[in-house]
Amino acid sequence: MKPSRMLSQLAKTIAKTCSGNCASVQINHGKTPTVPSRQEVVNTISQLGYAHVPSEFYLPNESQRLSPLLKKVQETYQAVPPDVSSPGNRFRSLIQYAFRPDQNDFIEIERSHEYYQTADTNHIDGGKVRVFGKIEKCFLENPLIKSIVSKDIEMARQLSHLVKFDETLRLIIHQIRYAPKFEMPSYSSPWGLHKDDEPLAFIHLIQIDPNVIGGDTLISNDMHNIYRVFRLKSPLDTMVFTNKPWHAVTPMGNADQEKEAYRDLVYVDFINRK
Ligand SMILES: [Fe+2]
Repeated sequence: MKPSRMLSQLAKTIAKTCSGNCASVQINHGKTPTVPSRQEVVNTISQLGYAHVPSEFYLPNESQRLSPLLKKVQETYQAVPPDVSSPGNRFRSLIQYAFRPDQNDFIEIERSHEYYQTADTNHIDGGKVRVFGKIEKCFLENPLIKSIVSKDIEMARQLSHLVKFDETLRLIIHQIRYAPKFEMPSYSSPWGLHKDDEPLAFIHLIQIDPNVIGGDTLISNDMHNIYRVFRLKSPLDTMVFTNKPWHAVTPMGNADQEKEAYRDLVYVDFINRK
């Protein structure tokens, strides 16, 4: 069975279990973390152009399964190859799917690990095709990853003013490790304030070493007025972005230069490619 088919099958399951079952509470805007319903997350994304979603939202239905599944996902990051496209000490793999309306499913595209951003949104690596590693099946087929991606797909379906589920829709999954060393900090590309090409992007923390300093998310009205700072602290803590807000992630370093430091994430992006 292709991973893409499994994604949509699981999405149907989650839609059924979540429709009347999710707790109705406030989304986390720096207040005490509570578990928002899917509708509340969707509303926040629509209203603010971003959302900071607590890890509890993405817990699998049987939460006792989290620990072994998460451990397996975390282990896969050791095999992610270096991103050699620009400095920043990143490791990165990728896979991209196209939506097929006739099959109501996502199908892997050709050269699915080649990635393009415009120069307008990425002044460092935009305007060129970057070739990353291809995400391994053991990552995509992990039930925790399938559950996360399926929840993102369901929210994307509800955000129809941002994403159209037609033949132009692409689902892009990035597996990224930031691995700062004292002599070589780690940072994203682009590392400064920017807007995304993608109209909808989910950024999920998978693990963070306590030796990492930095990695905080900034949100800004423009290039001068930062008005929010967030930190993803626990596995599955998530930021969601539309292409409206300016944002950035602060570069990462080692608190203790003698020790390893790493911060692992999975990005789930949606974009209609004309
Ligand atoms: Fe971004």
